[in-house]
Amino acid sequence: MAANPISLEAAEPLLSVQGLVKYFALRGGFLQRTTNYVKAVDGISFDVRPGETFGLVGESGCGKTTVGRCILRLVARDEGKVIFEGRDVYELNNREMTAVRKDMQIIFQDPYSSLDPRMPVGEIVGEGLVVHGGYSANEREEIVRETMSRVGLRGQYSRRYPHEFSGGQRQRIGIARALVLRPKFIVCDEPVSALDVSIQSQILNLLKDLQGEFGLTYLFIAHNLAVVRYISGRIGVMYLGKMAEMATPGRIIQVRKIMEQKAEYVRREAERAEETRDMLAKTAASLPVGRVGVGEDVARQIFAFMTIGFATGSIVYLDGGGLVT
Ligand SMILES: Nc1ncnc2c1ncn2[C@@H]1O[C@H](COP(=O)(O)OP(=O)(O)OP(=O)(O)O)[C@@H](O)[C@H]1O
Ligand SMILES: [Mg+2]
Repeated sequence: MAANPISLEAAEPLLSVQGLVKYFALRGGFLQRTTNYVKAVDGISFDVRPGETFGLVGESGCGKTTVGRCILRLVARDEGKVIFEGRDVYELNNREMTAVRKDMQIIFQDPYSSLDPRMPVGEIVGEGLVVHGGYSANEREEIVRETMSRVGLRGQYSRRYPHEFSGGQRQRIGIARALVLRPKFIVCDEPVSALDVSIQSQILNLLKDLQGEFGLTYLFIAHNLAVVRYISGRIGVMYLGKMAEMATPGRIIQVRKIMEQKAEYVRREAERAEETRDMLAKTAASLPVGRVGVGEDVARQIFAFMTIGFATGSIVYLDGGGLVT
């Protein structure tokens, strides 16, 4: 369990996502008509309790970022409710939403593209204070310096530009920017995915420490199960826009064990298929027919097997030529 100073099983959720739906229109042709939809988020529900870290995992493109962005109204949802501290954020007017934004922040996946290269770091970190107003220049400077020091950045760095920093330091800048308004809730969208493994644990530990110190609640998005297990209390597994499973880290490990055993089985089967393919290929070479694609299909099936099985925890196996779930 992650450090969880104020979470109680019975606590009212800080955030409740109910039946969230977001489709993106795909346009094509000369009139740019809508030709189809990507069902990025297709009816997701979950609660996040105060002080908790709720992990959201799933393969690339399954809709994790879209969930995070819909919660913060950075993109508008199509259907569903996002209840933060008892109020649906989609029913707030602009002024009310601005006030709520102070309490809900985001740390982005890519510390390179998410920081404006033309702005000195102190300004990047302090931007929220300017937007929300009510602070004198001196107060802003003081809060920025304090926040930077809290995430492990020296105050004198504030006049430097993002390109002068390493990946890990840049992510610290991103964290300071999210922290500067002392929010209650932060969407951490793959905050360590772009970093070296050696730096990842430093940043994860920093996030854990900050959570304890400031009583933060996190929605922690990742595709790496090990990272999510390390930091999260409960985990939701997304698959193709839906919540495939909700579990504690222990349960997810069990699922993984089963999947690894299954993977071993499939690997053996694939080896056998390789042999078969070689044999077929040799036979085919002596016959007046084209390619024999057995191996190719098996590889694709294994990939599907691994991703579906791993993401959903359902039992997936190869049956003859087809994939059975
Ligand atoms: N602005 C957009 N316009 C059109 N399609 C989009 C847009 N944003 C996301 N999508 C599509 O919605 C789906 C979900 O994307 P999303 O970024 O939420 O996935 P993700 O789980 O965060 O993936 P990753 O692990 O790669 O970050 C993808 O198919 C993506 O291509
Ligand atoms: Mg994403």
